[in-house]
Amino acid sequence: MAQEALRVVGFAGSLRKGSVNRLLLRAAARAAPSGMSVIELDISGVPMFNEDEETVGPPEGAVRFKEAVAAADGLLIVTPEYNSGTTAVTKNALDWASRRSRPGNVLDGKPVAIMSMSGGPNGNGQNARAQVRQAILFPGAVPMPRWDVGAPGGAANFDEAGNLINEALAQRVTQAMVRFAEWIRLVAPWE
Ligand SMILES: Cc1cc2nc3c(=O)[nH]c(=O)nc-3n(C[C@H](O)[C@H](O)[C@H](O)COP(=O)(O)O)c2cc1C
Repeated sequence: MAQEALRVVGFAGSLRKGSVNRLLLRAAARAAPSGMSVIELDISGVPMFNEDEETVGPPEGAVRFKEAVAAADGLLIVTPEYNSGTTAVTKNALDWASRRSRPGNVLDGKPVAIMSMSGGPNGNGQNARAQVRQAILFPGAVPMPRWDVGAPGGAANFDEAGNLINEALAQRVTQAMVRFAEWIRLVAPWE
């Protein structure tokens, strides 16, 4: 029997035009297995969280982001590491996503895959990924237990057109996306 198509949304936790994490997100989207689509969300319009604004009525930028996550079968987060943690951009988006204000806590029951890329030769963003994992558990998200992707090397992993040219990394990304499709189908009834 044919399986339902999976709709995943993803965001890069960097607003930088040349973000290598956005390139990794796009590479992951292209590597999605058949039956899974990945739509990239632009989170530059999600304002800094302010509970006063939320009380009056959440800003449209936050609501639009949350509605996109709510409508998706899974969420892919690709974030840089800043000072041994995740970025403010990533954490801010997750804080909005977790709130009860319109359209509610959109992380509850949401399968999540986490990836990160460092600009330098040594790090792979493991602290950023660990912080993301910790932050989404309380709101009820269901992160894939294994198959996170973390990579060093930044722009050296891509050609000028933004294609992922690190073959070993490309294989890990492809494998992670296959596992993510399996994970979404496994935990979907949990919602
Ligand atoms: C404020 C700041 C802190 C950083 N801290 C780390 C760090 O702790 N670990 C790391 O691997 N890279 C760190 N970097 C370097 C980033 O990995 C690099 O800038 C990367 O390209 C950012 O991702 P992006 O290209 O997607 O914006 C830091 C960069 C900035 C701007």
